[in-house]
Amino acid sequence: MPTLKTLAAALVLLATLPATAQTRQEYLLDTNWKFTKGEVADAAAPAFQDAKWQTVTVPHDWAIYGPFDGKNDLQAVKIEQNNEQAATLKAGRTGGLPFIGTGWYRRPLAVPQFGPGRRAVLLFDGAMSNAHVFVNGKEVGYWPYGYNSFSFDITSYLRADGNNTLAVRLQNQPESSRWYPGAGLYRNVHLIVTDDVHIPVWGTYLTTPEITASSAQVKLKTKIETPSGAFQPLRLQTEIRDAAGQVVATTTTALVTTNALEFEQNLTVPNPKLWSPETPVLYTAASKLYAGEVLKDEYSTRFGIRSFKFEAGKGFSLNGKARKFRGVCNHHDLGPLGTAVNVAALRRQLALLKEMGADAIRTSHNMPAPELVSLADEMGFMLMVEAFDEWKAPKVKNGYSQYFDEWAEKDLVNMVHRDRNHPSVIMWSIGNEVPDQSSPNGSQIAKRLQDIVHREDPTRLVAAGMDRFDDDFKNNFAQVLDIPGFNYKPHRYPEALGQLPQGFLLGSETASTVSSRGVYKFPVVKAKEKKYPDNQSSSYDLESCNWSQIPDEEFVAQDDQPKVLGEFVWTGFDYLGEPTPYDEKWPSHSSYFGIIDLAGLPKDRYYLYRARWNTTQPTLHLLPHWTWPGREGQPTPVFCYTSYPSAELFVNGKSQGRQTKLASDRPETRYRLMWEDVKYAPGTLKVVAYDAQGNAVATEQVKTAGKPHHIRLVADRPALTADGRDLAFVTARVEDAQGNLCPDAAHELHFAVTGAGSFHAVANGDPTSLESFQQPQMRAFHGQLVAVVEAGKTAGALRLQATATGLQPGTVELKTSSPK
Ligand code: GAL
Repeated sequence: MPTLKTLAAALVLLATLPATAQTRQEYLLDTNWKFTKGEVADAAAPAFQDAKWQTVTVPHDWAIYGPFDGKNDLQAVKIEQNNEQAATLKAGRTGGLPFIGTGWYRRPLAVPQFGPGRRAVLLFDGAMSNAHVFVNGKEVGYWPYGYNSFSFDITSYLRADGNNTLAVRLQNQPESSRWYPGAGLYRNVHLIVTDDVHIPVWGTYLTTPEITASSAQVKLKTKIETPSGAFQPLRLQTEIRDAAGQVVATTTTALVTTNALEFEQNLTVPNPKLWSPETPVLYTAASKLYAGEVLKDEYSTRFGIRSFKFEAGKGFSLNGKARKFRGVCNHHDLGPLGTAVNVAALRRQLALLKEMGADAIRTSHNMPAPELVSLADEMGFMLMVEAFDEWKAPKVKNGYSQYFDEWAEKDLVNMVHRDRNHPSVIMWSIGNEVPDQSSPNGSQIAKRLQDIVHREDPTRLVAAGMDRFDDDFKNNFAQVLDIPGFNYKPHRYPEALGQLPQGFLLGSETASTVSSRGVYKFPVVKAKEKKYPDNQSSSYDLESCNWSQIPDEEFVAQDDQPKVLGEFVWTGFDYLGEPTPYDEKWPSHSSYFGIIDLAGLPKDRYYLYRARWNTTQPTLHLLPHWTWPGREGQPTPVFCYTSYPSAELFVNGKSQGRQTKLASDRPETRYRLMWEDVKYAPGTLKVVAYDAQGNAVATEQVKTAGKPHHIRLVADRPALTADGRDLAFVTARVEDAQGNLCPDAAHELHFAVTGAGSFHAVANGDPTSLESFQQPQMRAFHGQLVAVVEAGKTAGALRLQATATGLQPGTVELKTSSPK
C-alpha cells in the first residue's frame, strides 16, 4: 500500500510536470532526488528509507564540493605521452577532488498517462560512472562509460498503481582518468512516455544529400517501434519549418512492409539558407506518426543545411568556401560548477570563444553534453565529437581499456545516433593518443572503429589525434584514418604530408602553452617545463612542455602549409586536473593550458588568438600590466597582440620605437610585436597601431595602478530567466580610485545575494587555490575573480554585493524575468 506520504510526493511530482499532449510526453527528472555517498545495502529497494539522504537537484556533481586534498586519487605514474622516464607521485592529476567511490541516487518516479498500450523510457545524457539503474528494486540496465548517453525501456518494470521508485548506483574507480571526470548524475535524466507504436530515442537520421542555391534535398529516415514488431498500416507526415516557423516543405509516406520498420522521406527545401559558424541557420523537420487516423507519436528533428568537403591537396571547405579550423579542445568541466552541466555556463564559454574568433571545438576526449551540441548548432561552432582517450592499451590503471572489447561498438553507436543530425558536427574522432598506435594491430582497431562510425553515419569523416609519429606511419595507423590528426607535430607536417595518401592533415591538438592569468616572470625567456617556486607560469606566453609549443610555432606551420586543415588548441579553457608543469607539486590541481582561465577570465593569450582569428573586429592588447614597484629602471619587455601589422610604443610619452610583424627564425616575431628592452618607469604605457598603409588607426594604454580603493562588479548579462537554473557570471575587479585594475590585489572578497536569486559559486583562476568554490568568499587572484549567481524561480531583481576589508564595496543588480 502506498503511504499517504509517498502518494503526496507523487502528486507533488505530477503537479510540477508540464502540460502534455496525448502522444508523447518528455519530463526532465531534475528535482526530488535523494543522494548519498558510499555503498548502501538494499538502496534500490522501493521500501528503503532515504529520508536522511541529502536532497539534490540533477545535474549534480557530488565531488565538486571538495574539500581538495592531494591524497584524493593520488597517482604514482610514469606518463608515457609526456616522455617521462620514471614514475612519480602526481597529486593533482585528477583535480584533488573526492570523486572516487560509490554514490546512490533515488527518486519517486511518477509516470503520467502510463497504462496499457504505453511505453516508458529513461534517457540518461551521461552518468559518471558505471551506472546501474533500478526501477522498483529491479535492475533495468548498466552503462559503464560515464561520458556517453544511454537509454533503457522501463515499461515492463513499472507498477500499475504508478507508485514507482527509481534508483541509480554509480561508482568511480581510482586511477581511472587523466583529468577530473566529475561524479554522479552530472548530466540530465529524462523520462519519455509514448504510445506502444512510437519513434524510439534518436529514431531519426536526417541528411542533406544535395544542395544548390535554389534547393536542398532532405532525406529523413525515421525508425518505428511497434509492440513485438506487429504490423499496423502506418503513415508518417513530415513538415519542414524554417527558422521563423514557416512550413517550407511537406510530405506524407505510408509504410507498407512489415519487416523494415523505417520510413524514408525525401523533401525539397527551396532557396535554402545555409548553416555556417557565421550564419547558424536552423530548420526543423516535425513528424507525426499515424496508425489509421489515430495520431501515435510526434517527433522533431532540428537540422541545418550545409555541405563540406575534405579534399586531397586542397583541404577543408564549408559550403564551397575553403577555410581552416580555428578550433580549441575543451574538457567537459565548467570550472567552479564542476561537471554539472548548465546551459548558461556553456553559453558563456561559447560566447567568449566566439568573441575570440574561434569557429570549432574538439570535445576532448569524450562525448559532450547534448546541450553543448545544441548550442554549437545555434551559436555556430563546428564540432569534432570525440569518443575515447583509450582503446585496448591502458593509459591509466582503471581506464576505458577495461571496457573496450565489450563496449566500444555500443558506445560509438550511441554517440553517432545521438548527434548525427546536428549541423555543428563536422567530424567524428575515434580516439586520442591511444597507445595502440604502437601496436602492430593498432591500425586494424582504428579501421574497425572507423568502419562502425561509417556504417552509422556515411556522411562524415573520422579522425583521431596521434602523438606517436614514427609508429603511426610504420604501423599504417596514420594512413588508415579518414582524417589524420597530429598532436604537437607542426615541425613534422611537411614530412607527414609527403607520405599521407589522404593529401591533408589536421592539427588535432596544438600548442599546450602554459600561463597563469596576471602572472609575469622575469627575465622573459622562452622555456620548456619551466617551474617557479609559486607554482605559476608566465603570461608572456613563451613557456610550454617538452612535447608542446608556443602558439606561434603552430601558426607558422599552419600558414606555410596549405594542406593543413587548421588547428585545435589545447585548450580553450583551463580545466580541473592535469596541472602540468606542476603535476608533482601540490597544491596545483587545475590546468595552466587554457587560453581562458578556470574562472572564465581571458589570459593574455586570448588576444594573440583573437588577433589572428577574429577577422571582423580589430585586436590591440598590451602586456604586461604596468604596476611594478621595485622594478624601476629594470628591463621589462612589452608585448602587443594585435591584428595590425605594426605599432609604436611609448612609456610616459617617450617612444620605444616602432615594431612590425616579420618572419624571422623566431616564430613569435611574425605574430607579436615585442619591445624587449623597455625599462620600467611608473606611469603610462601606450601603443599606437598602424594599418598596412601606415596610418595611425588605434591606440591602447595601460596605467600604473594606485592603492586598491574599491570593488567593481561587471556581470556578463544584465537579465536572467527566473527558472531556477539560469546563471550570471559577475567579474569582481579590485580597482584604484581612477578605475585601474590593481594587478596584484589579493583581498578576500565576500559576497551576499539578496532578492530574486542566490549565490552559486566562485572561482579566481588560481590553479593553486584550495578555497571552496561554493563558499561566498574567495581571495582575488591578480586583482580579479568571478562570482556566479543563480536566478530563483520568481521574477524580480537580484542584487549581488561584494565587500572586503579596506575596499569600498561593489554592487550589481540583475533583472530576472519569468520564462517565456
Ligand atoms: C596531450 C593529451 C591531452 C593533454 C595534453 C597536455 O598529449 O592528448 O589530453 O594531456 O597532452 O599537453
